[in-house]
Amino acid sequence: MIWGTTKLKPRSGGGGGMMLGDEESDYFPPSPRKDWSAGLLRLVTAMVIFMGGVVLGLSVSGSVARYYYNSHAELFFPATTYGGCAGGDRDCGGPAGGVPFKAFVHPPHLAHSMSDDELFWRASLVPKAEEFPFQRVPKVAFLFMTRGPLPFLPLWEKFFRRHQGLYSIYVHTLPDYKLNVSRSSAFYGRQIPSEEVSWGSITLVDAEKRLLANALLDFSNERFVLLSESCIPVYNFPTVYEYLINSQHSFVESYNIDTQQCAGRYNRRMAPHILPEQWRKGSEWFELNREMAVEIVADYKYYSIFRKHCRPSCYPDEHYIPTYLHLFHGSLNANRTITWVDWSRGGPHPARYGAESISEGFIQAIRSNGTRCTYNSKPTSICYLFARKFAPSALGKLMNLTSTVLDF
Ligand SMILES: *[C@@H]1O[C@H](CO)[C@@H](O)[C@H](O)[C@H]1NC(C)=O
Ligand SMILES: *[C@@H]1O[C@H](CO)[C@@H](O)[C@H](O)[C@H]1NC(C)=O
Ligand SMILES: *[C@@H]1O[C@H](CO)[C@@H](O)[C@H](O)[C@H]1NC(C)=O
Ligand SMILES: *[C@@H]1O[C@H](CO)[C@@H](O)[C@H](O)[C@H]1NC(C)=O
Repeated sequence: MIWGTTKLKPRSGGGGGMMLGDEESDYFPPSPRKDWSAGLLRLVTAMVIFMGGVVLGLSVSGSVARYYYNSHAELFFPATTYGGCAGGDRDCGGPAGGVPFKAFVHPPHLAHSMSDDELFWRASLVPKAEEFPFQRVPKVAFLFMTRGPLPFLPLWEKFFRRHQGLYSIYVHTLPDYKLNVSRSSAFYGRQIPSEEVSWGSITLVDAEKRLLANALLDFSNERFVLLSESCIPVYNFPTVYEYLINSQHSFVESYNIDTQQCAGRYNRRMAPHILPEQWRKGSEWFELNREMAVEIVADYKYYSIFRKHCRPSCYPDEHYIPTYLHLFHGSLNANRTITWVDWSRGGPHPARYGAESISEGFIQAIRSNGTRCTYNSKPTSICYLFARKFAPSALGKLMNLTSTVLDF
């Protein structure tokens, strides 16, 4: 901007200079009539030249300003980060397509054209300064991994109602699926650019990282919960928020037992980077704090080992994050999941509950079924905040329970 004004001054000065040059004609006093017309002509000529100088000066200063702004905007906020925002897009608000600070720290739109590599790199950037230059209210990011529709959408919408500013929602679907929700929904515009996912393969880990990375772009997101379309909340929002925000640990289930489905999935080729005693298993449905989320998104080395050596019947989504955290950040993990599930029936899939199973007593048993666990190193009876798996038929009865046991 400083360049703009300094450039402007010499330019208009130049116009003035040409006017001064015209004064020499005053030394040849013209006849009165000629004087009048010649004077007018001189005045008009001077005006035209002056205006030309001003216009030229302004346009040069303008293009300097635009150049100055653009080059810096692209340096600090690559246009691709905000895909739709390049070149003065309608939604951007900033001059000449630059990203205003607010949109940089809290991206209002989730569309972007970054590749996974670009996105993961961008999401792993961590500010060096400890203080934020804005009032940072920590948020919980709810990451929904789904094939398509969210059968419990009305339940979740009710759960989030009146808590704006304390949560962010991100939805990963199959790439061609369009989530159709009303503008007033908490889920409106919350679909992230998604890729094909085949269950049990590394592409599931890719989708988890994609959800984490998109959520990391918002600097206020502090806790990151992975949920599926068959998950429900079993406590109200304030309880979930307090529990997660105040926790000293992340909640990633992590164990190693000597069975075919656990230790048996270890591949010797992972040594020496991962040794058999370092191998861990746990539920895919994690909860991570920001620091752990950045570590996962930034890791390429261990991810590549799993990509190469954890293939069916090894399932990367059940081993990669528990093993990685155990290797480097074990003390920050509670080693338990906060998503209740019922494996008691045996077999490869957990029990799925429909309308016929839903009652106040059933939900109450999930909220507190006599199990004790630790929270910030103290015993507690609140071990589960979410539960799976539920069939779409359960929705009506669950909506009815929001006024009683679910309390939201
Ligand atoms: C989206 O939902 C609305 C309301 O339920 C419906 O009228 C509309 O046809 C739907 N659009 C698509 C593309 O499915
Ligand atoms: C979880 O396991 C790690 C080992 O990976 C251990 O260091 C840590 O203390 C455990 N966390 C809790 C809360 O016990
Ligand atoms: C409570 O739920 C957990 C998780 O499903 C289960 O392991 C445990 O056996 C249950 N406890 C009781 C007393 O039902
Ligand atoms: C919900 O509660 C209302 C009023 O008690 C009842 O009429 C309705 O059948 C209930 N719906 C379901 C799906 O249980």
